[in-house]
Amino acid sequence: MSMPKGAALVTGGARRIGAAIAKALAQHGYDVALHYHTSAEPAERMARTIEDLGRRCRLFRCDLNDHDDTAALVPRVREQFPQLTVLVNNASVFEQATLRDTGRELFERHFNVHFRAPFFLTQAFAEGCSEGQVVNILDTRVRRSDPHHTVYTLSKKALLELTRMAARELGPGIRVNGVAPGMILPPPGGVVDELERRSAGLPLKRIGDTANVVAAVLFLIDNPFVTGECVYVDGGEHL
Ligand SMILES: NC(=O)c1ccc[n+]([C@@H]2O[C@H](COP(=O)([O-])OP(=O)(O)OC[C@H]3O[C@@H](n4cnc5c(N)ncnc54)[C@H](OP(=O)(O)O)[C@@H]3O)[C@@H](O)[C@H]2O)c1
Repeated sequence: MSMPKGAALVTGGARRIGAAIAKALAQHGYDVALHYHTSAEPAERMARTIEDLGRRCRLFRCDLNDHDDTAALVPRVREQFPQLTVLVNNASVFEQATLRDTGRELFERHFNVHFRAPFFLTQAFAEGCSEGQVVNILDTRVRRSDPHHTVYTLSKKALLELTRMAARELGPGIRVNGVAPGMILPPPGGVVDELERRSAGLPLKRIGDTANVVAAVLFLIDNPFVTGECVYVDGGEHL
């Protein structure tokens, strides 16, 4: 096993885009602190995949909708990985609701998972880290005012602003950037055909792939002169 570049905490890393990011970071030389909430078995499979790549992986269960649980996460990770240098805030909920339809629980769930948790995870990450990178996974919807996913979109817009403000405060040691995917994967239980039909309206006229999101994350982690940036991986949807 070669020396690791450091360790990366990836939230929501058991499945889908988060799993692709976690695996790519391992291939890129990072040990992985893999956070999950309900996906225990996929998380264990991902941990085996990462260890087969010759990197260490430990699993961290945490409900990011619960503040005390969230506040304990980075200290728990540091006990296993004192060299934590990368934080990827990827975990997400995606529930359709207009302003009229939005109840307090749905409101709080979205703001807690997309904004409060990344806020306090970034704060805790910065406390023990002189050099590192934070990558927040946003959504191309931050560029528009989608009335069908009101709180989802508002909470991702707040995370974009946090990305910029944190980049200003935490430099020069810590860089903070965002990746805003567009049509990559249908929501859990959804079908890819619907996304493909809608993608005909995009400049690039097709849906993207998890590898496209991963490439943007690695670019932002590797480029030492980029901070406060948001890379749109959306086939031009934001235009
Ligand atoms: N899919 C797309 O095409 C697309 C498009 C635009 C933006 N994005 C963004 O890209 C990122 C990844 O997308 P995705 O579709 O792969 O995400 P996802 O499958 O909807 O969610 C990722 C993970 O978030 C975790 N999570 C949800 N609620 C949680 C909670 N209360 N506490 C802790 N973890 C929680 C879940 O972990 P468990 O499974 O362990 O419970 C889930 O596996 C998200 O930030 C999303 O907003 C995705």
